[in-house]
Amino acid sequence: MPTAYDTTMPGAETGLGPAPTGSSPVQPGSAPVKKVSKKFPLAPVRWPTAQEAQARVWFSPIRIGQSLVEARTWVPAMVPWRATEDGVVTPQVLEWYERYARAQPGVLVVEATGIRDIPSGPLLRIGHDRFLDGLKKMVDVVHRTSKGHTRFFIQIIDFLTIRRRVPKEKYFERFFKLTDAHRRRLAQLTNEPEWGEATAHAVGEKLCSLAEAELGEILTAREVETLQMGYREWVTDLDLPPIRELPQVLPGLFADAAERAQKAGFDGVELHYAHAYTMASFLSRLNTRSDGYGGPKENRVRLPLEVFAAVRARVGADYVVGCRYLSDEIFAGGNRIDDAVYFGVEFAKAGMDFLSISRGGKFEDAKQPRIGEAAYPYTGESGLECMPTVHISAPGPFGRNISCTQQIRQGVRAAGLTRRANL
Ligand SMILES: Cc1cc2nc3c(=O)[nH]c(=O)nc-3n(C[C@H](O)[C@H](O)[C@H](O)COP(=O)(O)O)c2cc1C
Repeated sequence: MPTAYDTTMPGAETGLGPAPTGSSPVQPGSAPVKKVSKKFPLAPVRWPTAQEAQARVWFSPIRIGQSLVEARTWVPAMVPWRATEDGVVTPQVLEWYERYARAQPGVLVVEATGIRDIPSGPLLRIGHDRFLDGLKKMVDVVHRTSKGHTRFFIQIIDFLTIRRRVPKEKYFERFFKLTDAHRRRLAQLTNEPEWGEATAHAVGEKLCSLAEAELGEILTAREVETLQMGYREWVTDLDLPPIRELPQVLPGLFADAAERAQKAGFDGVELHYAHAYTMASFLSRLNTRSDGYGGPKENRVRLPLEVFAAVRARVGADYVVGCRYLSDEIFAGGNRIDDAVYFGVEFAKAGMDFLSISRGGKFEDAKQPRIGEAAYPYTGESGLECMPTVHISAPGPFGRNISCTQQIRQGVRAAGLTRRANL
């Protein structure tokens, strides 16, 4: 399987988790907004009275698939890094979800949980039946503590390999694959034809001594990225068999994981199609796969739909299945709201029960990691948009995704795909 990590830092391993405060966010379709140097002031808040709360749609029931959800309060997936190094549920995980359940949210979604049976650091896992015991305990704790008022979903995720950035010397010694094209470009740049015949070791040493700008003329863009950011698999790496075979492998893996979620007693599954991970990368405009799963948006949505179909076939029509995906990838050249509206309509048409909308959280604009660390998708502009803090520009950290979410909802409604009267 393609997805193994060689990092050991929580968060950096999967690129999941909290973002340090970042730089300037980009509003879709507008120029980058400069980083704000002072904190965005928060409006004063007060608790609503019981009467006010009761009068709000927010606390009224809604049907999601065949499940009646008692309130529209929804705790999205958040990884708190409390599993063991083997991805097993710990007492700390149970305590974490128990605390949420005490407040009886309408829906509580378990953090991103890995669908493969591979080392994944302290990420919760659901890629084998041995994880069932721990997952059942979580379900039990949440249903008991919320007194049955909370629907408990689990987010299931696939991610590709990402490695730590290595020192330049190590890169040229261990990872760099010298080609005739490199030799040719080096000979041209230096005006020294002998590089065409020199040993690979000598060429590596020479390249290592060059400045970044010179290297940029010799290495491919991908090699420069690996050198500067650390190695990362892309869904377009069709020369790598495990990447080529993702469309054949992922529907089964997601379906197996969803079946385990159902067996463990979760009320539904959320397919993780957001942020910097495999399925979001299939949806991305950067996905140029030439095998029918990349290019135009109709092709980019194909695998996410096939994964959903496999999951639906496995768990049955009555089980809640939805996905979390992006209204906007934020980085230049990424998906915009028109892609997201199209995907939302396709997901709804296929029979998804809910769409959970996030934004950003991508590797493409992540900050350069220090040597020995892995790139982290919540460090750039898209990361700040994904997890906004008080250090973000106007209109502040709240509600930045509302207008995009509205547009997706309008698109789905216009296609006649919601059941508004079905409460
Ligand atoms: C610590 C932490 C972990 C997160 N883990 C996940 C995750 O596993 N899956 C996911 O879809 N989003 C994850 N997120 C993103 C949150 O679900 C949420 O979208 C983000 O914090 C923005 O919240 P807001 O919509 O309230 O501004 C995480 C956020 C934080 C702060």
